Amino acid sequence: MIRTILHYPDKRLRERGERVEAITPEVQKLVDDMAETMYAAPGVGLAATQIGEALQLFIVDVAEENAPSDLRVFINPEILERDGEISWQEGCLSFPGVQEEVDRAARVRVRAQDREGVWFELEAEGLLAVAIQHEYDHLQGVLMIDHMGPLKKRLTHRKMVKRAEEQAST
Ligand code: NI
Repeated sequence: MIRTILHYPDKRLRERGERVEAITPEVQKLVDDMAETMYAAPGVGLAATQIGEALQLFIVDVAEENAPSDLRVFINPEILERDGEISWQEGCLSFPGVQEEVDRAARVRVRAQDREGVWFELEAEGLLAVAIQHEYDHLQGVLMIDHMGPLKKRLTHRKMVKRAEEQAST
C-alpha cells in the first residue's frame, strides 16, 4: 500500500524513531509499504519517520534507473564508522523541489537488521553512503534543512510553509 509521505514542516518529521523490538509481520508489511511508496515517488531512500511511523527503520535503493532494483532494508541501524569527505547534491521526498549540497562522510560502515531480522554489516561509499547518512538523519529527526546555511534555511522554511498552506486551502 502506498503511504502518504509527510512534508516539512510536519512536526512528525522531528520525532526520533524508536527501536524496533521485534520483526513482526506488521513490521515486514511496513517495510513493503515503504518500498512501494519509495518506488512510486520515485526516490532513492525513505525513512519510516517520513510516513509518520516513528521507528528505527529506513530503506534505500540507489540502483541506476534501468538496472535491476537493489532494495536494502536497515532496521535498528547504527553507523559504526565514518571516513573521508564527500559533497553531494541531495534531495528529499519530504522537501519536494528542494536541493542542497550536503557534506557527508565518503565511506560508512553500518550495522543493522534486514527484513528478516538478521543482523548484517555493510561498508558503503558514494551515493549509497550518502543515502544511508541522509536516511539515518531522518531517524534522529534531523532533516536536510538542518544542513543549510542560515539564509537558505530561512528561504526553504518559508517556501515549504507557503506550499503547505496552499495545499491545505485547496
Ligand atoms: Ni529525506
